[in-house]
Amino acid sequence: MDNSVDYKRIWLSTRAHLESDRYKYRSSGKRSKSRWSLFSKLLRIFVFLLKVFNLYKRGLKNAKNIHINEFTLEYPDLPEKFDGYKILHLSDLHLDTLPGIEDIIIEKIQNLKYDLCVMTGDYRKNTLGSFMQIINPLKKIVSAKKPNDGIIAIFGNHDTYLMLKQFEKMGITFLANENITINKGSDKITITGLDDPFYYYTDQAVNALEENIKGFKIALVHTSELYKTAEQNAYNLYLCGHTHGGQICLPGGIPIITHQFEGKKFYKGLWNFNNMIGYTSQGCGTSGIPIRFYSQSEITLFTLKRNLE
Ligand SMILES: [Fe+2]
Repeated sequence: MDNSVDYKRIWLSTRAHLESDRYKYRSSGKRSKSRWSLFSKLLRIFVFLLKVFNLYKRGLKNAKNIHINEFTLEYPDLPEKFDGYKILHLSDLHLDTLPGIEDIIIEKIQNLKYDLCVMTGDYRKNTLGSFMQIINPLKKIVSAKKPNDGIIAIFGNHDTYLMLKQFEKMGITFLANENITINKGSDKITITGLDDPFYYYTDQAVNALEENIKGFKIALVHTSELYKTAEQNAYNLYLCGHTHGGQICLPGGIPIITHQFEGKKFYKGLWNFNNMIGYTSQGCGTSGIPIRFYSQSEITLFTLKRNLE
């Protein structure tokens, strides 16, 4: 990373401009943001129907039932001192969709052991408007457990650049199309955190992945859609969220909507793309309405393992 470049300042001015724009920006071009208001209206009708058919409470119970999913990921090129390194992955907290969800999350992570926590965006319910309502719940989570290597966060399409100051006050390391190195003696891993490519796609995000960084690399992106660029640039692990695993699915976990336009097959769970391992979290929280059907609220714990075979 070029230390003479102020990545945060570049990101801040770009994100501020894009947030005020009436379009959302994707790698395929720009689209109107107005669809979200139509979606909200449809959700209200859906909630009414769920209540009529007595299904709302069941959906709410499903949303509050956060699972801890644990995975061991094996790599021949993992630096020796990172053998056994544990990463907690939280995504799509949407803390104001379901007030009190922070207490469920804290109870779940309290007894887990991990070296680093990463958060892959979407902290509030809506894509626009106020955000202070999520700050105290987030503060509670952040102060409940402080891993040795800290907490690294990126933003999703529901977040605003105005949150940055609050995140920094909490001691969260926020990455804006830039990378950070975690060192253990002479060994290191690099973590690259990008801005959301679903609403706020920019070349700066792609450029950050294309930086010539050697060694073991992890990409944090809100959505799976930059997987090809990450793999082409020798990333070992790609962590994302955004889809909520469909949130409201048909029996068998078949999603109706995943809000993706690229990498649709990577809508949940563990996946591989050539030599890169990816994981799409189903998210801790819910967006729109606090219910789930045939999808799982999740907290994910990864253990990195060095396997020379
Ligand atoms: Fe989300």
